[in-house]
Amino acid sequence: EKGGYDHYMFKEIQEQPVSLAQTIEGRVEDGLDLSPETLAGVDSVQFVACGTSYHAALYGAHQLRSWGVEATASLASEYSVYPPPMEDALVVGVTQSGETADTLDALSVAGDRGATRLAVTNVVGSTAARESDDTVFIRAGPEIGVAATKTFSSQVVTLYLLAREVASVVTDPPAAAALDGMDELPDAVETVLDGSRAARLADEYLGEDGHFFLGRGNGVPVAMEGALKFKEITYEHAEGFPAGELKHGPLALVTEKTPVFAVCTGRDAGKIESAIREVQTRGAPVVAIAPRTMTDIVEVADDALTVPAVHPDLTPILTNVQLQLLAYHAASSLGRSIDKPRNLAKSVTVE
Ligand code: F6R
Repeated sequence: EKGGYDHYMFKEIQEQPVSLAQTIEGRVEDGLDLSPETLAGVDSVQFVACGTSYHAALYGAHQLRSWGVEATASLASEYSVYPPPMEDALVVGVTQSGETADTLDALSVAGDRGATRLAVTNVVGSTAARESDDTVFIRAGPEIGVAATKTFSSQVVTLYLLAREVASVVTDPPAAAALDGMDELPDAVETVLDGSRAARLADEYLGEDGHFFLGRGNGVPVAMEGALKFKEITYEHAEGFPAGELKHGPLALVTEKTPVFAVCTGRDAGKIESAIREVQTRGAPVVAIAPRTMTDIVEVADDALTVPAVHPDLTPILTNVQLQLLAYHAASSLGRSIDKPRNLAKSVTVE
């Protein structure tokens, strides 16, 4: 049932061209089929989510803000502590399983305050789908590995499409949106899946004192997700954060024993390049994860995992697939329990 692979995680990584095609099918033309009330009177979006889904939510918030729509992404467990004002906000719960207790709790707090709640989930009939005012299914197919992979990619695409629909109501999304390139995304993912380079670099760049993942703009969620995936299945320390924060603390930890993975999604290459130089000065080996057309970045780094050049709004998906492969191969070399990492469960139904 693992399709001839050793692990569900690897199978699910490899499935992404198909799962993404399912997510996208019909939706570029026809939209997400939201109920007419869902966007009525909405002026802003508040995403709530945990873990990997939170990283997808961060991407969604970035995308909306890039189109001039007020949007925040909150960790569901914190959202409920001091819920923000939410009059006229659409509260979007992003949850693969639809059963994560903290996300359900945040949605219920929003419901008590009269906000419209939209669930973005993979599971038909899940609690989040049943208890929200409206639901969009990400259509990734069942995911068995504890580490979320294909569902993250499908969440990102779905949130891009959702952001576009919200922006078309609240402001005007730019004409040069990535929508035209959407249909080519599954093929672009396919070319990344060869993965032999990620396997080699996973061995070469295993750090003794930890691993840093840096990004900027819509590369920040990728850096954070790359670090989460890495720590979750390798049990090695990893941290992901915006490149601009380096000099405000983390730089103190950077040495030749802390490899740095620098995510470049096509914008702000100059800032990523200067971050790369900054950590190289401290002796850290750097792998750039970038579109292959960004030759400045690729050349300045010690090594690179490149991806096809697509619209910068969609590059996060491709760079993230490289980091999925990196984490998988590192965990595999270390002989970890990849599909069921210690102490973790697929669905966290307690707060
Ligand atoms: C990490 C992972 C978790 C989940 C989180 C939320 O690989 O899978 O961080 O993303 O527990 O789960 P859902 O999306 O089901 O709400």
